[in-house]
Amino acid sequence: MTIPEIFETMEYGPALESDTEARAWIARHKGRFGHFIGGAFTEPGQGFSTKNPASGEDLAQITQGTQDDVDTAVEAAARAFPRWSRLSGHQRARHLYAIARLLQKHARLFAVLETLDNGKPIREARDIDIPLAQRHFYYHAGLAQLRDAELPDHEPLGVCGQVVPWNFPLLMLSWKIAPALAAGNTVVLKPAEYTSLTALLFADICREAGLPKGVVNIVTGDGKTGAALVEHPGVAKVAFTGSTEVGRRIRQATAGSGKALTLELGGKSPYIVFDDADIESAIEGLVDAIWFNAGQVCCAGSRLLVQESIAGDFHDRLKARMAKLRAGDPLDKCIDIGAVVDPVQHARISELVAGNSAGETWRAPIDLPQTGCFYPPTLITGLAPSDRLMQEEIFGPVLVSTTFRTPAEAVALANNTRYGLAATLWTENLNLALDVAPKLAAGVIWVNATNLFDAAAGFGGLRESGFGREGGWEGLLAYLKPSDTGKPAKPAKLHDAGEGEGEGDFDGIDRTAKLYIGGKQARPDGGYSRPVHGPRGKRLGHVGIANRKDIRNAVEAAQKAEGWGRTTGHLRAQILYYMAENLAARAAEFAERLRAQTGQSAAKAEEEVELSLSRLFTYAAWADKFDGAAKGVPIRGVALAMNAPVGVIGAFCPEEAPLLGPVSVLAPAMAMGNRVVLVAGESAPLTATDLYQVLDTSDVPGGVVNILTGSHADLAKPLATHMDVDAVWGFSSAGLSGVIEAASAGSLKRTWVNNGRNPDWFGAGGEGKRFLRAATEVKTIWVPYGE
Ligand code: NAI
Repeated sequence: MTIPEIFETMEYGPALESDTEARAWIARHKGRFGHFIGGAFTEPGQGFSTKNPASGEDLAQITQGTQDDVDTAVEAAARAFPRWSRLSGHQRARHLYAIARLLQKHARLFAVLETLDNGKPIREARDIDIPLAQRHFYYHAGLAQLRDAELPDHEPLGVCGQVVPWNFPLLMLSWKIAPALAAGNTVVLKPAEYTSLTALLFADICREAGLPKGVVNIVTGDGKTGAALVEHPGVAKVAFTGSTEVGRRIRQATAGSGKALTLELGGKSPYIVFDDADIESAIEGLVDAIWFNAGQVCCAGSRLLVQESIAGDFHDRLKARMAKLRAGDPLDKCIDIGAVVDPVQHARISELVAGNSAGETWRAPIDLPQTGCFYPPTLITGLAPSDRLMQEEIFGPVLVSTTFRTPAEAVALANNTRYGLAATLWTENLNLALDVAPKLAAGVIWVNATNLFDAAAGFGGLRESGFGREGGWEGLLAYLKPSDTGKPAKPAKLHDAGEGEGEGDFDGIDRTAKLYIGGKQARPDGGYSRPVHGPRGKRLGHVGIANRKDIRNAVEAAQKAEGWGRTTGHLRAQILYYMAENLAARAAEFAERLRAQTGQSAAKAEEEVELSLSRLFTYAAWADKFDGAAKGVPIRGVALAMNAPVGVIGAFCPEEAPLLGPVSVLAPAMAMGNRVVLVAGESAPLTATDLYQVLDTSDVPGGVVNILTGSHADLAKPLATHMDVDAVWGFSSAGLSGVIEAASAGSLKRTWVNNGRNPDWFGAGGEGKRFLRAATEVKTIWVPYGE
């Protein structure tokens, strides 16, 4: 098109970004790439070609990583670990800073290469992906610098196996590698098979930055290579971003291995528009929410919920805006919508949309290139909440829409999903916004904005969107462990009846402690109980044996008590203090019971009661002090990191401290607004059952604490598979860590298991922030300000 013609038609002229540098870089590698292991590229091996999805052309040959390749890379990372982890925070900060500087220096090259390989518009790669990747390394240079002083008593984990998807190849790499290195770990990262090139360019940058050999290793390949990496015994931590299905598989594959795990998975994030919203802004926000990266975004605002009174007008204006979106060559700077990543993804989107007959499907009447993987911006209105496309992640430029009448209905519809990654809401009423935002089941919530990200603000989800946060201090902690590794968990010991057991050995009235469900004592469903004996065989009473049905009842009671999560920290503190008061009033009785069950000295038993009182005070103190934060993100606005309760926590109590153990578990959970289903330790369960009266007399609402007795081995699976349990803590000595982790994969609930070692309940490791963090879900709420 000539300039006079452009003046004539006022059409956009082409504004192509040059790809010369990027192609020269590929050519320098002769168009064939090996892995990057131990600071050098390996010889290219058997593999596959990586393509430009906008044209279908082959860009380069990538090597398929074998088990041997993964072994070599993990060995290289393990060799580099001791020196790297012993560097001072400042020395590591210098390395991260050097990487940030080089990313900045080569920004254009990275952006063009990303666009060529992924198909996203250059405008996005240039203005979002690459600057955010730089920002991540700068921010984490800072965290490396501060880590030693701010997080003493913590250590890096070792070799991290990291697997990233194809939608934000360099950005996801940065989210993984920057915190891992800042914390002092070394890394083996596998990029997605469709988009390996920027990871390989990043490897070049690591060399240029003088990063010690083996600290970062890149192994390319498909899911098989990924599986070999996450299953490798030399890997101490797995971090994955990708589909929920693969995340679930990784949870199962790593169960019981002792590996730390964070999963950032799919979503079907609601985009709520109230009738008082600034409509033009909300529509522009929607363009960013669902047509950014052609909708291939885990937190895409893919589910529009618009208030009924404005729905007709809103959809009309939205369609008018959609008709102005420009799809085309992603290297053109005036393009809004590029190509989707691969014909496979194109086919997946097409099939999902073609399979839907509900509602009305409207495709934007815009020109699409004749070749390449282009999919038109699409709006599907009039769907019911249960329709497949309202529930399933499409991962393409397809928006589904429904309406609501009231804020309560908006919240109910928004939360009607198995996912919980992000949510957006638009209203000019800040009171409404800040009332609704915390009610949304999502890890990240944007108010009057969308798809804002920053290294300082945690990102991550709930439910089937995975667990763990990336970014901020909370993200760094996912790459550290406490230096205090605790003690081997004490095995359960059930004492037998003494030789001459009979009525004479039993003093007092025989009593069967029932279960404690919904604030009431309940007979075990199966009707079974067992005697509890002291170490010398004296019968002390009976306890019920809970089964799967009792778990169900307890979880139901806990679910019903959800109002506890909305109480104030002050009220929860009061109740924890009452519990301490009432326990103190019975201190002698509890000490005697401990002594009778365990045979320990009176002094030791009294010490355990004293420490339990202190622990209740600790969490009463924290209940109104474990604050969130206002993160200093680079926008005119704040990102509020709000500490929300996890929900219903199932917990297996330890054997080593029959009173202090359950108290150490239930108090932090209660303090942060959770409800608990506690399974008492097996050796001395009568102390946990004696707590019923303390709970009853302390105004603890029914269902907030539920206590079961029975076999840990029998109850682990029912509790960990239960869909309405949000997290499971395993301090049992019955070797159930693997069972709990594997069983949790169904609903992808959070787990905290002991792998055979428990905190020292009697020491400093038995309380503190580790427990509070496990009891907390950090929700990041972005609120921009200014007119
Ligand atoms: P995927 O989850 O299979 O791939 C993501 C990464 O995991 C890639 O690097 C892949 O090689 C690796 N991988 C695959 N199987 C693995 C295994 N068993 N163990 C370890 N690593 C493994 O995603 P895919 O198939 O590319 O896309 C399918 C759907 O997943 C998309 O349509 C979308 O709905 C969703 N998805 C969601 C993403 C997100 O950010 N939440 C990112 C990518 C895909």
